[in-house]
Amino acid sequence: MKRLNVALIGTGFMGKAHALAFNAVRQTFGDVPKVALHTLCDTPAAKAAQMADQFGFAHSSEDWRATVANPEIDIVSITTPNGMHREMAVAALKAGKHVWCEKPMALTLAEAEEMAGVANAAGKVTLLGYNYIRNPAIDHAVRLVAEGRIGRVVHFRGWVDEDYQADPDLHWTWRAKLKDAGLGTLGDLGCHLVSMMLRLMGPVESLVADTQIIHETRPLPEGGRARVENEDTATAILRFASGAQGSFSTSRSAWGRKNRLDWEVHGTKGMISFAQERMNELHLYVNEGDRAEQGFRTILTGPAHPPYGAFCPAAGHQIGFNDLKVIEAAQLLHAIAGGQPCWPGFAEGLEIERVIHGAAEAAQTGTRVSFVGR
Ligand SMILES: NC(=O)c1ccc[n+]([C@@H]2O[C@H](COP(=O)([O-])OP(=O)(O)OC[C@H]3O[C@@H](n4cnc5c(N)ncnc54)[C@H](O)[C@@H]3O)[C@@H](O)[C@H]2O)c1
Repeated sequence: MKRLNVALIGTGFMGKAHALAFNAVRQTFGDVPKVALHTLCDTPAAKAAQMADQFGFAHSSEDWRATVANPEIDIVSITTPNGMHREMAVAALKAGKHVWCEKPMALTLAEAEEMAGVANAAGKVTLLGYNYIRNPAIDHAVRLVAEGRIGRVVHFRGWVDEDYQADPDLHWTWRAKLKDAGLGTLGDLGCHLVSMMLRLMGPVESLVADTQIIHETRPLPEGGRARVENEDTATAILRFASGAQGSFSTSRSAWGRKNRLDWEVHGTKGMISFAQERMNELHLYVNEGDRAEQGFRTILTGPAHPPYGAFCPAAGHQIGFNDLKVIEAAQLLHAIAGGQPCWPGFAEGLEIERVIHGAAEAAQTGTRVSFVGR
């Protein structure tokens, strides 16, 4: 297969993660198509040029429209703030590019549906940046559930908390504005938990939810205060299509929590639990053996949990956050080469968007939101 030319838009937290992944993916996974780091796009032009040099891109640009229209580009990575995802992804797909886009898909469900429709018509590979589900520990948990190791799955409980908006004196930013961020903690953090939950539990049938804004206004850097327009916390109670029940809770204002992305899946024969801050561990309890010796087993990921072995030949040595992006890049490139489809593309990402926007709707209307037939 020919070398694939990459354009990356954005050089912040996620821009760097995508750049590191594109640089490492072929060294880590020998069987992916070769990529060339073609154009790095950011504003202003001087920043784009400096970051292109740092990340190893051949060209730089401050014009994302010209970048995605360039016929030399095969893949567009979108790592800009949420409010730009729809316009950039739609333009890239219409120009015939494969698209790797950060989460959440867009500001509203209608925008996400438009993106899925354009992706379907374009017939190109799309992939959303749900890196936490790339973890070999999560793949193993999904396998354990599918193989019936914990029996019939009956209950899911999940939490995703950070404290980046806990300080009441923190300046107001675009993250608090519906027009630029869309949802609050549901769109920023909750969607990651939902991506894991759907893999473990299957589709959600219906939910009820409640949300709150903790800090109604925040100080502006230039003086005065601006209103916070989206939720700081959200809690949902769910019913899955399988008949199992569940709940999740998310907060961006939970002091002390840095990346708490934890869940438990309970079955009729045992349970599995996971905590992202200890992402190389899985805890399994099965109701078997001598009662006096029953207890949780800590499974440390290793080469027995693919694709851990692509990074390191020894168990327990641990992979990290940026490695999850390398796995994500490999899944994208394999799919482009005609291998296994990657998940979630824009079509499947809609399922995640339905749950997070459904939770916001349920909280706003005080009703149970059903996804049957949606
Ligand atoms: N997958 C994850 O774990 C994860 C983690 C953090 C953020 N995100 C998502 O990634 C996206 C970006 O978040 P971030 O934290 O990297 O933000 P950031 O602010 O660190 O980076 C955004 C980048 O976009 C650039 N940008 C803005 N407008 C532009 C334009 N018109 N043209 C070109 N570049 C432009 C900015 O200059 C900046 O480099 C968000 O959608 C966020 O939800 C995902």
